[in-house]
Amino acid sequence: MVHMGYQIAVYGASGTTGRFVLAELEKRGFSGLPFGRAQATADDPAALDRALAAAAAVINTAGPFAVTALPLIAAAERAGIPYVDVAAEIEANADTFARGASIPVVPAMAFFGGLADLLVTAAMDDWTSADSAHIAYGLSGWQPTAGTLTAGTVSRERRGGQRVRFRDGALQYHSDALPSSEWEFPSGPREVIGEFSMADIVTIPSHLQIPSVTSYMSATAAQGLSEAAERAEPETFEVDVRVRRGSEERRLTVTGRDIYAVSAPLAVEAVERLLTSRFNVTGVASAGAMFDARDFLGALAEHLKTAA
Ligand SMILES: NC(=O)c1ccc[n+]([C@@H]2O[C@H](COP(=O)([O-])OP(=O)(O)OC[C@H]3O[C@@H](n4cnc5c(N)ncnc54)[C@H](OP(=O)(O)O)[C@@H]3O)[C@@H](O)[C@H]2O)c1
Repeated sequence: MVHMGYQIAVYGASGTTGRFVLAELEKRGFSGLPFGRAQATADDPAALDRALAAAAAVINTAGPFAVTALPLIAAAERAGIPYVDVAAEIEANADTFARGASIPVVPAMAFFGGLADLLVTAAMDDWTSADSAHIAYGLSGWQPTAGTLTAGTVSRERRGGQRVRFRDGALQYHSDALPSSEWEFPSGPREVIGEFSMADIVTIPSHLQIPSVTSYMSATAAQGLSEAAERAEPETFEVDVRVRRGSEERRLTVTGRDIYAVSAPLAVEAVERLLTSRFNVTGVASAGAMFDARDFLGALAEHLKTAA
């Protein structure tokens, strides 16, 4: 589908993810309208309004989202255009759901948050509830960008150094050590760190009746998440999702390469669907609630290979 004429504003366009998003927009025939804090800081509503004046939608790739998300959503509301972000900050994502919106808003529409939500929603199929969801990230490594590290710092500060998990139907703050275990991926076993909470613990429970949601991160990737790195050799990933109800389990796994690059087709596919009336909610909704999850994943088959 070619979308010449639609102009899509991209906030944080100078960043790693912003550049991937601009390239993906161009590939699909959209016109990207790059801007950032040099043109409009998040606390300048008039400048944000000017930046969005000609836009059909806005994609926010500028973290920390604790600073940028709500002002950008307010500006998108004033402009009457859909808003998509790639926020991986659990508390900022929760703030977006709590705020609500009069326009379509999709937070965490990226590798963390959006992808697992699509996978869990698709794996659930006809189940309307489950006992637990488990999302295991088999990353070959992780060379974090400066933006990722800032997101981690801001989130840690917001939760006073505590850890967070989703249990008994609620976010639980705690100081327990993170458990290590081995996860049987389709490609073989890997050591993982459990309760390695990602935005998934907000997106998935926002619309699915699952009282326990747990993320696991390959130990090699968790270890790499300490200092900003030149992203010379992008990581490979295997995202293995299992939902359990009683003694039954449903599973879906995808594999691919480069968690930052793949966030661009995820965010842009969302915008394309929002602009072509292929969405479910006018208001704040995660990927799995906003879109037809299986159809969405099918559209990204080039980037997300289904593993047996
Ligand atoms: N959910 C996911 O899977 C996922 C995937 C990718 C990225 N992300 C998130 O997206 C964010 C960006 O990541 P990245 O990898 O692109 O980082 P990056 O390469 O370091 O780029 C950061 C971008 O944010 C902008 N920025 C920083 N502070 C800002 C502020 N206070 N106001 C406005 N803009 C600001 C920077 O603008 P300047 O050029 O002016 O410094 C730059 O454009 C991070 O929060 C990251 O966690 C999430």
